[in-house]
Amino acid sequence: MEQQKRYGHFDDAHREYVITDPKTPWPWINYLGNEDFFSLISNTAGGYSFYKDAKFRRITRYRYNNVPMDNGGRYFYIKEGDTAWSPGWKPCKTPLDFYECRHGMGYTRITGRKNQVEASVLFFVPLKTWAEVQKLTLTNQSQEVKTLKLFSFEEWCLWNAATDMENFQRNFSTGEVEIEGSTIYHKTEYRERRNHYAFYHVNTEIQGFDTDRESFVGLYNEFSNPDAVVEGLPRNSHAHGWSPIASHYIEVTLQTGESRDFVFLLGYVENEQDKKFSAPKVINKEKAHALIARFDTTDKVDKAFAELNAYWDALLNIYKVKTGNPKLDRMVNIWNQYQCMVTFNFSRSASFFESGIGRGMGFRDSNQDLVGFVHQIPSRARQRIIDIASTQFPDGGCYHQYQPLTKRGNNDIGGGFNDDPCWLIFGTVAYIKETGDFTILDEMVPFDNQPGSEVTLFEHLKVSLDHVINNLGPHLLPLIGRADWNDCLNLNCFSWDPNESFQTTENVSEGTKAESLMIAGLFVVTGKEYVALCNKIGKHEEGQRMQRAVDAMIEAVKKHGWDGEWYLRAYDFYGRKIGSNECEEGKIFIESQGWCTMAEIGADEGMVAKSLDSCKKYLECEHGMVLNNPAFTKYIYEYGEISSYPEGYKENAGIFCHNNPWVIIGECMAGRGNDAWSHYAKILPSYVEEKYQTLHKVEPYVNCQMVAGKDAFRPGEGKNSWLTGTAAWMWYTVSEFILGIKPDYDGIRIDPCLPETAGDYTVSRKFRDAEYDITIRPNGSQKGVKQIVLDGSPVEGDVIPYAAGKHTVEVTM
Ligand code: BGC
Ligand code: NOJ
Repeated sequence: MEQQKRYGHFDDAHREYVITDPKTPWPWINYLGNEDFFSLISNTAGGYSFYKDAKFRRITRYRYNNVPMDNGGRYFYIKEGDTAWSPGWKPCKTPLDFYECRHGMGYTRITGRKNQVEASVLFFVPLKTWAEVQKLTLTNQSQEVKTLKLFSFEEWCLWNAATDMENFQRNFSTGEVEIEGSTIYHKTEYRERRNHYAFYHVNTEIQGFDTDRESFVGLYNEFSNPDAVVEGLPRNSHAHGWSPIASHYIEVTLQTGESRDFVFLLGYVENEQDKKFSAPKVINKEKAHALIARFDTTDKVDKAFAELNAYWDALLNIYKVKTGNPKLDRMVNIWNQYQCMVTFNFSRSASFFESGIGRGMGFRDSNQDLVGFVHQIPSRARQRIIDIASTQFPDGGCYHQYQPLTKRGNNDIGGGFNDDPCWLIFGTVAYIKETGDFTILDEMVPFDNQPGSEVTLFEHLKVSLDHVINNLGPHLLPLIGRADWNDCLNLNCFSWDPNESFQTTENVSEGTKAESLMIAGLFVVTGKEYVALCNKIGKHEEGQRMQRAVDAMIEAVKKHGWDGEWYLRAYDFYGRKIGSNECEEGKIFIESQGWCTMAEIGADEGMVAKSLDSCKKYLECEHGMVLNNPAFTKYIYEYGEISSYPEGYKENAGIFCHNNPWVIIGECMAGRGNDAWSHYAKILPSYVEEKYQTLHKVEPYVNCQMVAGKDAFRPGEGKNSWLTGTAAWMWYTVSEFILGIKPDYDGIRIDPCLPETAGDYTVSRKFRDAEYDITIRPNGSQKGVKQIVLDGSPVEGDVIPYAAGKHTVEVTM
């Protein structure tokens, strides 16, 4: 029963996932860092670090498509006699007597034991710090004195992660380092335009070092058996060009029972232009010294770690549920929120599936990520909204992404996605509802970052919806442009050239009739939000104008977007139906079912219920709902990338977890709590974790973007973990629609939708300057609040009006 094999388990008390077998079915990673300095770390300590931007400011090197897969990272080699081993098993791969990796909130602790020596490494990025701390604790658990040789290892990336992998005629000559005491400085290109360097330090005297990879590893060896480690002798090499690294060599003697800490620090420094050098060719190390001094003792490191823990305690204290179902509670209280923070930080840029080179911060992606994060640190969400809006064009159109370092939009992964503008409303409204901060609407925000082009953020919202209204097709439905949320439904691309990307190839826009029902639904949902916002701030005329556009869209969907049992997906370039019973393949698609049911289009006419039933009938399978059905079995020139994927994978009938919540919310709006819950639990990591780990492959503590669908060769296999809009959508769904705690302009709306088996539960929710302790008694009902009692007095309606202070709320359904 290979399927049943387990590689780890949750430890909720410590908010950790504990991996007990290093040979996980895929590297199971964690993210370190909250704001500027970030690291990815796998369960064997593989991965890399960067400052702000995984493409332009890569600090350490990583090789994708490696063999074995996850090779390269921050490595320790411990040598006793002829045996060399690593606490994370890799890279030495010497069998360990004990191995454990604990991924926690912003930290990872890896412990290995060999021949009664224990090595435990705590990795974390302290708050507001441009460095990764690695606290290594060596303990002699034997009855004899142990004499050990310790080697550390990091490999520098020559800053630009893309050219680092391409431009070897230059790269092999530029590498430069400096060595000072126990610190190795990486200063490639510092002599010219760069004003930043990195360093790797240890808080003890060293007995040797290496900075040149070939000297340390040897040209014909691997990370598992570097020459220096095999011989037990550092080379004291000084890199000139080729591949600079940083390795410390330390001789350690441990008495019986003795334990010793070593603090390694991987740091990043920026200097002012006129203070770059302390002497000709010598980098100014002042800031590095100061940074090192902050973490040069175990006490200081422990204090910084306690601060990080307190930071996460506070963040995870904002929304806390107690349902008595540990599988639900741990996702809501710990992992889902944690994943939301990570996706907010990275958008889709850097994971073990995205190299950190191709994709920056997505316009659509980041707006969605906001919704999962805004309750945690609203001020950062506010800044993000301004950053995103600043890349917009005057007509409401958008760059699809921007680079975090420059905050400038670019077309690297295409442009002209006609759903993009609507997402700005989705994100902004979520921010205002959480904070009550309407002043954001008055912020002056440029178009395309052009000074002088500033208008209010409200104006950006307006042009966003106008972009849809100004781009309607023959059925008065939104033109799809390059694509909508489904990047791979490329109705205007017509590509036969394998050397061009579907995302960036030229679009035929002249004469297109390609319209999207997904955008239609999205427009109705965000349009209604916009109308409510207008009314709230007294812009009634503008509200009425938009209400008319929304009504017209609803009519257009009813008239031209309904197929009888479900909503159509789109019209193609020629005006032919997509996602219709008349089609041979791809008869039904999930996106339009999700958005049109969330928008409640045709609810009175029974369309919503029929659409939701059709999702169950045609899209649902054991592992979730697939994107479309039946899968495309051949490439369709008129549809583009969607039909390029083999059946059951990615956009071609994969379970694209991201869009499952749309239907789940549709179910909740319709009051079908049993169905909502059963869809939800199918893709909830803690349920998947319990069911199978080998087949699923990817991290069991977070959602992945895609799980292979029912038509796939291996249904249930997950891919593209961590950075996915699924995180925010799962959070939005469970926190607001299932558990029913919805921030609103004037307070919190209580509107749960639950399976009839749900028992009583409590939610404690910090909201602005208030704190609500809410007890909900479902009494077997799936939806419908009967009574709300606030601090002992009954409340009219379903909104608890906001008032600062502590409150108790009792809800009866
Ligand atoms: C993927 C999409 C992705 C797009 C843009 C496609 O190949 O299937 O999921 O969003 O590329 O990077
Ligand atoms: C991944 C992208 O990040 C997301 O924005 C997109 O819509 C999905 N792919 C579906 O194609």
